[in-house]
Amino acid sequence: MSSRIDVLSEYHQADTQVRPYATKMQTAETTMASTQRSQDIKPKITVENTDFFYGEKQALFKVALTVPAYHVTAFIGPSGCGKSTLLRCFNRLNDLVEGARITGQICLDGKDIYAPSVDVTDLRTKVGMVFQKVNPFPKSIYQNVVYGPQLQGVRRRSVLDGIVEESLQGAGLWEEVKDRLHQSALGLSGGQQQRLCIARALAVNPEVLLMDEPCSALDPISTAKIEELLHSLKEQLTVVIVTHNMQQAARISDLTGFFLMGELIEYAETKTIFTNPSDRRTEDYVTGRFG
Ligand SMILES: Nc1ncnc2c1ncn2[C@@H]1O[C@H](COP(=O)(O)OP(=O)(O)OP(=O)(O)O)[C@@H](O)[C@H]1O
Ligand SMILES: [Mg+2]
Repeated sequence: MSSRIDVLSEYHQADTQVRPYATKMQTAETTMASTQRSQDIKPKITVENTDFFYGEKQALFKVALTVPAYHVTAFIGPSGCGKSTLLRCFNRLNDLVEGARITGQICLDGKDIYAPSVDVTDLRTKVGMVFQKVNPFPKSIYQNVVYGPQLQGVRRRSVLDGIVEESLQGAGLWEEVKDRLHQSALGLSGGQQQRLCIARALAVNPEVLLMDEPCSALDPISTAKIEELLHSLKEQLTVVIVTHNMQQAARISDLTGFFLMGELIEYAETKTIFTNPSDRRTEDYVTGRFG
C-alpha cells in the first residue's frame, strides 16, 4: 500500500504542478483527518539532492524531501544534525554566513529559490521566520507589527490598523493586547512576545512560516497557545517547525523528518514516525534510546 510520502515523492520526482490526488489519497494507509484540503494537496517546498557546507564543514548530505502546502512539517533530531541549517536554507538566511555553500536544488512552488533572478527580499516576505530567541523590536506592539508592511510601502493608517488587528488575531494575541497597542512590546511576557513575533511575521502575509524551536524558552501554557495556533495557521499557510520536544512534534505536525548528522534518515507521516518508523535509528531516537 502506498504511503502519503510515496505520493508526495511522486510529485517530487514528476513535476510541481498542482494536481489533485484524491484517488491516491484513498489508498494511503492513513488519511489526513486534520486537513480540509486533502483534495488539493500540493508541494510547497521541494528539496533535491541538497548538500550544505559551512566552509570545509559539511552540515547537510544529499537531503531530499517535499514539504506539502497547508500542512505542518516538523524536523526532529539530536543537536547539530542540521535541522536549523535546512530551515534557514528555505529563506536563504544562510546566505548571510560567510563561506556557506549549497548544492542541489530547493524550489518554492516549483521555482528554484537560488536562481540568480530571485529577489531575496521577496523570498523572505513569502517565507517568514520565527526564531527560538524571542526578538521583538524595542518599539510599541503596533510598530512591531507594521514594521514589515511599512517597509513594503503601506502608509495608510486605516490599512495598517487592519493589518495589526488581523495579524494579532492570527497570532492569538489580539484580545490580550488590543488596549495597549502603543505600549512597549518589551512589557509583554515571553509567551506574548513570541506570539507578537508570529504576528510580525504574519503581517506581510507569508506563504510559509519557518519556526525554529519557537517554544523552547516558553512555559507550558504559552507553549500550548502556540501549538493551538498552528492548527489554525495551517489553514492559511505552510508551516515548517524545528522542535526538540518529541511530544510537541507528535501533537502538532502532519509530517515529521528525522535528521542525524546532516542526513535525513526518515520522513513520513508523523504518526508513522512515532509509532511505526521504518529505520532503527528513528525508532531509537523517538523512544529515547539515544539523543
Ligand atoms: N554559522 C555556522 N558556522 C559553522 N558551522 C555551523 C554554523 N551553524 C551551524 N554549524 C554547524 O553545522 C552543523 C548543523 O548545525 P545546525 O545548527 O543546523 O544543527 P541543529 O540540528 O539545528 O542543532 P540544534 O538542535 O542544537 O539547534 C553543526 O555541526 C553546527 O556546528
Ligand atoms: Mg537548531
